[in-house]
Amino acid sequence: MYTVKIANINEFNEQKVKIIIHDGTPIAVFKVENEFFAIDNRCPHRGASLGDGPIQDEIITCIWHSWKFSLKTGQAIENPNCFIKTFPIIIDGDIIKLVYDSKR
Ligand code: FES
Repeated sequence: MYTVKIANINEFNEQKVKIIIHDGTPIAVFKVENEFFAIDNRCPHRGASLGDGPIQDEIITCIWHSWKFSLKTGQAIENPNCFIKTFPIIIDGDIIKLVYDSKR
């Protein structure tokens, strides 16, 4: 387990989502209200980019077939057995980092 730098916190003044690739994993990082979330960007249904979807009340909706996921827990709203990976966020001064576990 280790941390990965995502961005300077100021980058999120202009945008609400940033997608990075780390260790072959596409990861979407969101700023919602004043909280940050990081998820595996691949929808478990057919692989759409979740970072392109709309967010309401910390729930993201996949743009392809409208599956919904909690950004906090990764749990699918309509199928409690389905999860996307989430990554803890650390704010270190002006730097946003996520905690990456390659075994997850
Ligand atoms: S690819 Fe996301 S709901 Fe189908």
